[in-house]
Amino acid sequence: MGLLGSKPAAAAVSLAGRRILALGPALAELADGPLAGAELTAAGVEALDGLTRGACDLVLIDADAWKAEELAAAVKALAAAKAPPPVLMVGQSLPAGLVRNLLRLEQADILEAPFSADQLTAALQGLMAAGAAAPSAPSGASRCWAVTGAVGGSGATTLAVEIATAMAARGNLRVCLIDLNLADGAAAAYLGSTAAMRLAEFGSAAERIDQAMLQAFATPVSDRLDLLAHPRDPQAFETAAHDAVLRVLEIACETYDQVILDVPRHRRAWSLEALAGSDEVLVISELTVPALLAARSLSDEIEDALGSGLKPRIVLNRLASRMFGPAPSMAEAERALQRKAIAGISSDWEAAAASANLGGPIAQHRPKSKIVKDVQVLVERVVAEAARRDAQRAA
Ligand SMILES: Nc1ncnc2c1ncn2[C@@H]1O[C@H](COP(=O)(O)OP(=O)(O)OP(=O)(O)O)[C@@H](O)[C@H]1O
Ligand SMILES: [Mg+2]
Repeated sequence: MGLLGSKPAAAAVSLAGRRILALGPALAELADGPLAGAELTAAGVEALDGLTRGACDLVLIDADAWKAEELAAAVKALAAAKAPPPVLMVGQSLPAGLVRNLLRLEQADILEAPFSADQLTAALQGLMAAGAAAPSAPSGASRCWAVTGAVGGSGATTLAVEIATAMAARGNLRVCLIDLNLADGAAAAYLGSTAAMRLAEFGSAAERIDQAMLQAFATPVSDRLDLLAHPRDPQAFETAAHDAVLRVLEIACETYDQVILDVPRHRRAWSLEALAGSDEVLVISELTVPALLAARSLSDEIEDALGSGLKPRIVLNRLASRMFGPAPSMAEAERALQRKAIAGISSDWEAAAASANLGGPIAQHRPKSKIVKDVQVLVERVVAEAARRDAQRAA
């Protein structure tokens, strides 16, 4: 018997251009019926390995076409992947072990064969709609940038806020700013937002943190920028479990296109793992000799500790056109750093203070400030360098 119990009806959901991965030869008969218009690609169970939503919009599996154990293992691996696509499994034989693994997926459905074209359409419609509404629909691999200050007050939080804002405005990216200064982070105050990420409650049950919980922790700043920040708590660094912090970062990277971390300067149990998981590390320095020396040491320490070849980039903040008293020039600063700075950010106390007082990014309250322009240049430079590096790696 075929999969369809009755003649195909016209598909009620437009599948035009939808990329469907079809596992099982019998599914080809659906191409002219309920799946008309979709880009159907035939594949084997091995295609599920590491499959993400960037690669296809939906996976359709004919369970009868594969050995149950083999399929169950592949589905289990898929559920562990970063942002897996929705899965619809059909078939006459749907063993419990297989179904249990299917249920690990956030978006999955089952249809017992034989089914009608309408039933198939309804199941597809449900999954596609859920997929579109899901918070986790990264357009590709998510990117994570860590921002940290060489010395206290160098402007790490200010720049993390502006970088996140610039990234959200750039293309159609969903961005999350995560303030990892758990005890007394300032990002929520600078943005005039509330800090709602209560990590201490999780104790050792970090695995309970999932996408739904992350959404409950997140405070929307704009339609494309969310903030994750811990409410003020002097004990937070002790009470928030290492695994809970890393789990938040992991889920955030699965949920958003771009994650910006405001990382405390002093090393915590999770600091190196957070930095190791980042694509870029930006060390913010001022143009004073002590700050430059600290920036150089901190960059060396991070580079040595990670040992992955990732080189922190130094951003010189609060460049003033007219210095009061002796201050290093940009060239002198780079000599002291023994490396080039990736960008310099102008000083604009009025814009920085006014925005912090009003609550919101400088880009919103003082869009004409040089800080905004300089941050845009910084972001474009980091993106361009990353693209060049990726291209070299691929070559
Ligand atoms: N480019 C700039 N021009 C003028 N003022 C700035 C600039 N960048 C930051 N500031 C100001 O410097 C002060 C310190 O900034 P911020 O809180 O961002 O530093 P930080 O490195 O995060 O500090 P902390 O070590 O406390 O985390 C704030 O008053 C901020 O408004
Ligand atoms: Mg700060």
